[in-house]
Amino acid sequence: MALLQVSDLTVAYGRVTALTDVSLAVEEGQIVTVLGANGAGKSTLLRAILGAAPARSGTISFAGEDVTRVPAHARVARGLILVPEGRRILISLTVEENLLLGAHLRSDQPAIRREIDAIYERFSNLGQRRHMLASCLSGGEQQMLAIGRAMMARPRLMMLDEPSLGLAPLFVSRIFDLIRELNRDGLSVLLVEQNAGKALSVAHRATVLELGRATMTGDPKTLAADPRLQEAYLGEGAKIPAA
Ligand SMILES: Nc1ncnc2c1ncn2[C@@H]1O[C@H](COP(=O)(O)OP(=O)(O)O)[C@@H](O)[C@H]1O
Ligand SMILES: [Mg+2]
Repeated sequence: MALLQVSDLTVAYGRVTALTDVSLAVEEGQIVTVLGANGAGKSTLLRAILGAAPARSGTISFAGEDVTRVPAHARVARGLILVPEGRRILISLTVEENLLLGAHLRSDQPAIRREIDAIYERFSNLGQRRHMLASCLSGGEQQMLAIGRAMMARPRLMMLDEPSLGLAPLFVSRIFDLIRELNRDGLSVLLVEQNAGKALSVAHRATVLELGRATMTGDPKTLAADPRLQEAYLGEGAKIPAA
């Protein structure tokens, strides 16, 4: 059984239908990527999985439980964690306060401390700036902090909404390396991206959304070679790096 199973999901904002009959699964231990142009419905899909956008029809099950009618906060408590678009960290709090916020549902203080120190070890930039305001961080560092904060919630599935958007190339590579590392440590990931090449190079499965419909699903290498995807997301003659 899949960790996350989305079946025939339809989501509308008033009269605007953002998703139509979308189905998608994330198996335990997998990275699944959802690709699509601006406005395709990628953020809506993540928000609906989290419970922040209402499902008009269809079902969402997580860890063997139908959570379609479960409120967002209770889904978070079950380990469904979203790193939203635009890395919404709290810039008036320090780096450490942001990380502690990620652990606000937990009470295991010694483990929280150990995990925060492990994050500082992994990201020395954050460690050095732990008592500084998050507003002092670069965009790439803020994204690392947003992911670190999500880790502090002990996710069973981490959903990332365009984590590489607007970052300098060095940080883009570091973000994808990090996603791969976290996955190797056992984390399941649902990754929304416009950077199709990078996303396909880390993913086990991929789905393409177009105007709210899942039009292609499959093995990343197969999708990467598909001329429709090449044309739509990679520009003429573009090549996707081998995984
Ligand atoms: N809060 C909202 N109210 C009304 N329409 C929305 C809202 N959020 C998104 N939409 C519409 O839903 C569609 C999908 O948007 P979105 O999920 O943000 O796409 P993506 O993340 O792929 O860019 C778009 O047509 C967008 O205009
Ligand atoms: Mg979006």
